[in-house]
Amino acid sequence: MTNVSQSMPVAEESSAIDSPIMDYLCDLRDQFAGHDSGEVADYIPELAKACSESFGIAVATTEGHVYEVGDSRQEFTIQSISKPFVYGLALEDNGRTDILKKIGVEPTGDAFNSISLDSETGQPANPMINAGAIATAGQIMGYDKDKKLLRVMGMMSAYAGRSLEIDEAVYRSESETGHRNRAIGYMLRNFNILEEDPSETLDLYFRQCSVSVNCRDLAIMGATLANAGINPVTQERAIRGEYVENVLSVMGSCGMYDYAGEWIYKVGMPAKSGVAGGIVAVLPGKLGIGVFSPPLDKRGNSVRGIKVCNRISMDFNLHMFNVVQPGKSVIRRSYDGSHITSKHLRGAAERRRLQEAADLIRVYEIQGDLNFSTSEVVVNEIVTNSRFADYFVIDLKRVLTLDQSTCHLFCQLLLKLADKDKQLVFANCDSFPELGRYIRMKIKGGNESLWLHFDDDYALEYCEDRILNRGEVTPPPVSLQDFELFDGLDADEIDVIGGRLTKQRYTQGEIIINQGDAASQLYLLAQGQVSIRMALPDGNTKRLATLSQGLVFGEMAWIERSERSAAVTVDVDALCYKLDIDDFDDMMADHSSIKVKILGNLLRIFTRNLRKANTEIGVLS
Ligand code: DON
Repeated sequence: MTNVSQSMPVAEESSAIDSPIMDYLCDLRDQFAGHDSGEVADYIPELAKACSESFGIAVATTEGHVYEVGDSRQEFTIQSISKPFVYGLALEDNGRTDILKKIGVEPTGDAFNSISLDSETGQPANPMINAGAIATAGQIMGYDKDKKLLRVMGMMSAYAGRSLEIDEAVYRSESETGHRNRAIGYMLRNFNILEEDPSETLDLYFRQCSVSVNCRDLAIMGATLANAGINPVTQERAIRGEYVENVLSVMGSCGMYDYAGEWIYKVGMPAKSGVAGGIVAVLPGKLGIGVFSPPLDKRGNSVRGIKVCNRISMDFNLHMFNVVQPGKSVIRRSYDGSHITSKHLRGAAERRRLQEAADLIRVYEIQGDLNFSTSEVVVNEIVTNSRFADYFVIDLKRVLTLDQSTCHLFCQLLLKLADKDKQLVFANCDSFPELGRYIRMKIKGGNESLWLHFDDDYALEYCEDRILNRGEVTPPPVSLQDFELFDGLDADEIDVIGGRLTKQRYTQGEIIINQGDAASQLYLLAQGQVSIRMALPDGNTKRLATLSQGLVFGEMAWIERSERSAAVTVDVDALCYKLDIDDFDDMMADHSSIKVKILGNLLRIFTRNLRKANTEIGVLS
């Protein structure tokens, strides 16, 4: 036989391919690099030193993947792009109510340095114009200006995922020429928007604008907002999740000043520009884009920056109002108890009773992010079917996130069904403790093990047991002739086989079979309940089956004469009959017909279990 490895040329350790996204960004940069309209800002003298050819693009996803091309590592000052981030910190420090008393959220349609203050209250229209940003800087907590600055730098560094510093030359340049901002500062002091002498606040503002970043930082800062406030590269939280929506709102409505309307219309992402030539754009839940190119249009936005964001948004359908059909896909599949039964194998009588009542159980496997609009689809489906079933299982195995409104809706649904003596239970909810907490809070003294189940299989078993009223009374031991294994055996033949069985009692928790044991006996479960579990590589175990009385276990290894492939433990005190393999073999000589009947019955049991497994594969695939 040819050794394949000898014939096949040994593959060189080839380098990984370039990401097509990198190719796309390279092309994009090349396309706009030659575009030379716009002016480098010079009203802050230090900024005039910027090179108009500098041009970098970066995209960071909420998965933490970062793509960057061109001058993506070239430092420049963040300028007005600092405003939404500082606004977020002010919200954390003061809460929405107090901040809204000081600073409005209305777009002005005016330029960034317009003195847009309410004529009566002096309230600046929004936190994205200089007036609003200076007012915002005045709300930052800290026992002195150094502490406040430290907190602002710490926050911005958390967004960027690296320790950021201030460009002292730009800071000095701005501070020395910031007369208009000073005027705004004193106007705000005049209206008591700033409650102390504005110079410290102005200084903090000039410093926040002078923080040195690159467009890779901007992309990651944007992706942090897109990722509900957690930096997707460092996993550090930069802002409390509840305030992200407010920061993105003002970026969406005011971030691009008097171009905001056209921007949101064409590009469709909350964004913020800065006079040093940076733009950050955010697609909530997905990604952040950072662009750096100093030449600005007459509104103070980077010319190439706008073109790049426009193009990326168009090419990849990133407009946030470009909605895909919502919700329909939240229910990945649903089925009733006739298609899928739990791994609790039951005796013939219980199997029949369950088959008759199987459609009283409905299981809904749901997926994705659960919020009002998606959980409403699930609730509506269950409400619509509430007349036809008594037990509803919501399986959260493929759910990514679950918000408060979902907890509320599911809990109300549970209570409403309970009023009608129907039950709603949840499976695979370990990742969502908030759901259990919410239900516990609403249903005082309730037994949550009735609602929350380890996985869909245990939830299904729970519903089946309810239908069978299991656990009400301990059924008497199954007699030998009632074992399916002995179907077709007459009384004499039952006596023969009975004479070869040994009887053993086991108590709850006891291990009857260990995985890997040699298989010498077949077990007939006359009373009680056992479960078969297989050890998994991660040290956990997986339930393969639970058996009620009247069933046999250990038959596979017994027939194969192989090692036990799983362990068997006692769930409910059990009584077992054991048939030794050698005794069974000996029967061939004198009682071959009994042996044939038993093997025939075993085959039929195997076939039925195989058919059940095939049906389930069919439903679940
Ligand atoms: O206060 C100023 O004027 C600058 N530090 C920031 C202005 C700015 O970035 C406007 N953005 N396009």
